Amino acid sequence: MDEQTEEFGMAYLDSCDRVTLLLIHGFPLSSAMWELQIEDLGDMVRVVAPDLRGHGRSAASPPPYDVATLADDCADLLDYLAVPGPVIVGGLSMGGYVAFEFYRRYPERVAGLILAATRAGADTPEGQAGRDKMAALAQEEGVEAVAGAMLPKLLAPATYEEQEDVVEFVQEMMEETALDGVLGALAAMKNRPDSTPTLAQIGVPTLIIHGAEDQLIPLAEAQAMHQAIPGSRLVVIDDAGHMPNLEQPDDFSDAVADFLEQFLDDE
Ligand code: MLT
Repeated sequence: MDEQTEEFGMAYLDSCDRVTLLLIHGFPLSSAMWELQIEDLGDMVRVVAPDLRGHGRSAASPPPYDVATLADDCADLLDYLAVPGPVIVGGLSMGGYVAFEFYRRYPERVAGLILAATRAGADTPEGQAGRDKMAALAQEEGVEAVAGAMLPKLLAPATYEEQEDVVEFVQEMMEETALDGVLGALAAMKNRPDSTPTLAQIGVPTLIIHGAEDQLIPLAEAQAMHQAIPGSRLVVIDDAGHMPNLEQPDDFSDAVADFLEQFLDDE
């Protein structure tokens, strides 16, 4: 595992192997959420998992952020790492919003897409009002209050009962996010473009993964993306909520590994 924080102003995990899989985390999380996938897939592909600005160990620039800047940060990291050729871009939830933007900005750099626990649509006016409320909560009561508000909705009921370690891990990851990172990302999500018109234009193999019990983004959103993205594959993970990669890591990694096979055949 290679880690670099000094020369390049963004922290990341990098498993250093063949075809590259870029994994973009959700809100307000970090690359740490991908550690099990790096373990499972790191010998098959080179996994690069950045901490988006203001998250994990990456520095926070002053808010607001936008998804274009977050996508550009990822492209800059790939440049810095001199990753050759197109990569498979995977994102969970907010990471999916960034993945859509990355695809629009750098289609030539994308060999495949993995859209996990995410949706194509922009925020509704109610959703945008919810972002403002969350930002006010963060400013008035701190990031812990945001983590406290989000935690009960992030996971499947069985995860809360049976996987205390996962619950604690997710809570700690959220609480470690910088206030500016939370505010910046809330603005990026609130103002993100509608990716629905992008769906029919996606011309690369696409895997959609969704927890059957996702309380934040209903499964119907994943089914709609599957209908609209030509040739896409949909995998529904049972007994998982909004963090299927942590709640059912083996099922999640198996689905990704199956999908990745097609990119290794030419090697
Ligand atoms: C995430 O999990 O990244 C966010 O909760 C997504 C969102 O709020 O739209």
